[in-house]
Amino acid sequence: MHPMSWLNERLGVGATVRGFLDRPVPANIGWLNTLGSATLFLIIVQIVTGIALALFYVPSADHAYASVQNIDALRFGALVRGIHHWSASALVVLIGLHVLRVFFQAAYKYPREVTWVVGAALFAVVLGFAFTGYLLPWDQKAYWATVVGTNVAGSAPIVGSVVIDLLRGGPALTTESLTRFYGIHVWVLPAVLLIGVAIHLFAVIRQGIAAAPRRTPLVADVPGESQRDRYAREYAAEKHDGHPFYLSLLKDAVVSAVILAVVVALALAVGAPLEAQANPNAVGYVPRPEWYFLDMFQLLWYVSGPAEPLVIFLIGSIGFLVFLLVPFIDRGRKRHPRQRPIATALGTASVLGVLLLTAQGAMAPVASTDVAATVNASTLTVAQQAGLKVFQVQGCAACHRLAGQGGTAGPDLTSVASRLSAAQIQQQITSPRDKMPPYADLAPGDMSNLLDFLSTRK
Ligand code: HEC
Repeated sequence: MHPMSWLNERLGVGATVRGFLDRPVPANIGWLNTLGSATLFLIIVQIVTGIALALFYVPSADHAYASVQNIDALRFGALVRGIHHWSASALVVLIGLHVLRVFFQAAYKYPREVTWVVGAALFAVVLGFAFTGYLLPWDQKAYWATVVGTNVAGSAPIVGSVVIDLLRGGPALTTESLTRFYGIHVWVLPAVLLIGVAIHLFAVIRQGIAAAPRRTPLVADVPGESQRDRYAREYAAEKHDGHPFYLSLLKDAVVSAVILAVVVALALAVGAPLEAQANPNAVGYVPRPEWYFLDMFQLLWYVSGPAEPLVIFLIGSIGFLVFLLVPFIDRGRKRHPRQRPIATALGTASVLGVLLLTAQGAMAPVASTDVAATVNASTLTVAQQAGLKVFQVQGCAACHRLAGQGGTAGPDLTSVASRLSAAQIQQQITSPRDKMPPYADLAPGDMSNLLDFLSTRK
């Protein structure tokens, strides 16, 4: 007996699978429609290479870096890590392009609203993977970019200190933070991702692939017809002229194969970077975020002043909410980009804005946070020098300028002692007035050294 019919006799899914592959899809769908399946393909690549890496990776500050070096020394180890690294970037690009295709073709309109909302949430999940995965190699770049990244998250109003506690497990980046990042990266986010992808695919299969928008609809209006009936008639007409689904699958396979070839080529030619092991004392290190976070970094740089965290938080959450709810905001029937001038203009402006911010972020000189390079250490006592080190190690300079170095998210501390008493500074550090993350868990010795150092800043 044919093995397929043996299996079919037991499972009875032959007809379903055949129906799935043979069902008609609209004729006018093209190469742009392969972006979604290419995204799915890269997610599968990430799962497979990620599981392989997890078999060798040790999520502890003492061993993480050595275990990554060990992976690179294994046969195919560097290749697998390289694929995981480059495929992560490719995934961000492809999910972005997929979103743009769906947006400009207004494929999120009735009856595909749920597909969009779940897809938009998946976009955020992918960025979460990127953020948490970045720390895992535990090299300098990973460490210092995450210090800055978690500081930014920590400056959000109300939820900031909770977020920072949740992510770091304490005020500084330690083994505990690494374990959290790892747990989120390999357990929490994959679970959310798989559920989201399942719902997204179910909705795609149930509603069928949206036809590309036409300026003149395929069917004429019938007066008094409901939107639902009209859509059903139009989609049936699109499918009537269509072709079987497996023909589009061939296109999908071609695109996925090309993407895999590019990712493997990058993994072989460039590989995954690994800098020196993370050193919390190497405070001169100037962190740079991965390219897909450069736009947010740049935005942060533009909005400064006391309202900064609030502005960032508002822009961020309103922006994401609008993105999530696009199908309920743009509700008209028209789908062609030229017949939706406002949506098309806003979409184009957002794309240009992100590209511009990313380019500026990539070219901007980064503020050095090496305060020790400009403070005259010879005038400091031993305790004050230790305090300077605490200032650096705790990442205070990421938000505060001191002696011409450091960030601008918080006030300049160059002459903080002329404004505030030691008690007031301590009060600010343990329970900040407003946007600053609290450092309630500083060791008493570190705290007194830090206060001693800051008392010299008159
Ligand atoms: C995420 C950014 C951020 C980090 C990191 C940060 N601060 Fe702040 N800090 C602020 C902001 C914003 C303010 C303004 C008041 C507020 O929002 O609490 C501030 C205020 C202060 C003030 C009061 C200054 C004044 O003139 O009123 C002191 C002192 C201070 N920070 C010290 C520190 C020290 C010491 C550290 C490191 C242990 C640190 N900060 C880390 C953002 C930060």
